Amino acid sequence: MPLPAADLLEIGVPFVPPYPKRHARLPPLPELLRLVRRSFLDIWPERSFEGDMLRARVLLRDVVICNSPALVQEAFVEHAPDYERKSPQMRHALKPLLGDGLFISDGAVWRERRKVVAPVTHVSRLASLTPPMTEAAAERAVAWRRQDPARPVDMLAEMGHLTAEIICRTIFGRQLGGEAAASVVQAFAEYQRVVGQTDTLSLLGLPDWMPRWQPPAARRASQRIAAVLDELIERVLSPEGRGEASLIRSMAEGVNPATGKAMDKEAFRNEAAVLFMAGHETTANTLAWAWYLLSQAPHAARKVQAEADALGAPATFADMPRLAYTRAVIEETLRLYPPVPLLAREAGRDGELGGRKVRKGSLVIAVPWLLHRHKRLWRQPDAFIPERFLPGGEAASKPRYTWIPFAIGPRVCTGAAFGLTEAVICLATLAAGFAPRLAEGAVVHPICRLTLRPGDTLPMHLDRRHG
Ligand code: HEM
Repeated sequence: MPLPAADLLEIGVPFVPPYPKRHARLPPLPELLRLVRRSFLDIWPERSFEGDMLRARVLLRDVVICNSPALVQEAFVEHAPDYERKSPQMRHALKPLLGDGLFISDGAVWRERRKVVAPVTHVSRLASLTPPMTEAAAERAVAWRRQDPARPVDMLAEMGHLTAEIICRTIFGRQLGGEAAASVVQAFAEYQRVVGQTDTLSLLGLPDWMPRWQPPAARRASQRIAAVLDELIERVLSPEGRGEASLIRSMAEGVNPATGKAMDKEAFRNEAAVLFMAGHETTANTLAWAWYLLSQAPHAARKVQAEADALGAPATFADMPRLAYTRAVIEETLRLYPPVPLLAREAGRDGELGGRKVRKGSLVIAVPWLLHRHKRLWRQPDAFIPERFLPGGEAASKPRYTWIPFAIGPRVCTGAAFGLTEAVICLATLAAGFAPRLAEGAVVHPICRLTLRPGDTLPMHLDRRHG
């Protein structure tokens, strides 16, 4: 589908950011497992970006990929209870970090925890949750001014520190401190690098209770994250911390509507870990990608800067209606590089999808990475064109489940509005003073193990805009 002439005139030739090589057909099994271990994004044949449903058998598991908005709706919304359980791969990969936290739990535990966790970042609370976003972004701008533009920073780590700081101030009511932020960000990067995501045992149909091996480096990384979290929780719950308001404490002390009791300590710790992990890593990746994309698309960078300049002060929640283009940049970034590019579930019983049988135990998957670049759903699907997301743009006319970076159905991200607002506020506040430029020779290549990142680091120069 070509772009309308009016759009082309304004945008010129749109920037096409990097994506992995697409195979002519699905690679043979040993190669497939090797590629999955390196990055989920590297396995897809060209035809995956066209069909409605893809099916394969991997070792002893059936794999069904829902690759149209209608099929995604059928599996993840209409038949959600049959496909509510996360894939064994995801559960085993995240268990050391999250225990039985709601991100990877199901059944009664998931239902109970969801009722407690979802209100923490509910959209009705946004106005009161967002001031720490503005503060933290403005503080980062001050720190950036001290930075020598001749020396590149790692933008991925920068955005990781910023979003870890924000989640800490909003949820825990505390500043994280530079050292703890650096420790968490490094530990997450290390965890992703080494965590065992392929879980061949479950593809062979072996049961969940069989112990899975995790590399010692993954254990060390999860211990480092746990240590920072434990310290935060201890301070929040200590007599001196009790005087301060914090969302996480109100969650611990509040009565769980499902049971009528307060949450026990371990459940509380696991849910704090979920909010910390789900709440900072995804937004950090989005922001890092957005800076990269803007650095390669000057017309888009200029429009974001114009919106930021018009505010005349760090962006706040009240400014959101004046940041339509900046928001479109974030939405287009989430289309091209959805931080969670694969939503995988285990079928809880025999059923049917798209008129075809699905056996209990099959992996049923929606892949935002495919759907967001589907050739029949998007014009120039691999190109960066934020204008698609402006009012009346291409995205407005799409079926509802064409753009699904925050998942869909009952397990939809509880922090979607929080994360989107945070990304817009941070981008606008920092774009007012800086035009980050990719360091010469930097190689940017999307890679995904747990979340989708632009490589291990993203070296950028912090060029100032106003001398
Ligand atoms: C750009 C930012 C974000 C993106 C793209 C994102 C994306 C997602 C996705 C795709 C899922 C579902 C995963 C699956 O079904 O396998 C999810 C779940 C979740 N997210 Fe987010 N998220 C973001 C920010 C946040 C924030 C800021 C928070 C909280 C502060 C948060 C909390 C959660 C929680 C608690 C779940 C688990 C929900 C459940 O299983 O019931 N997320 N997120």
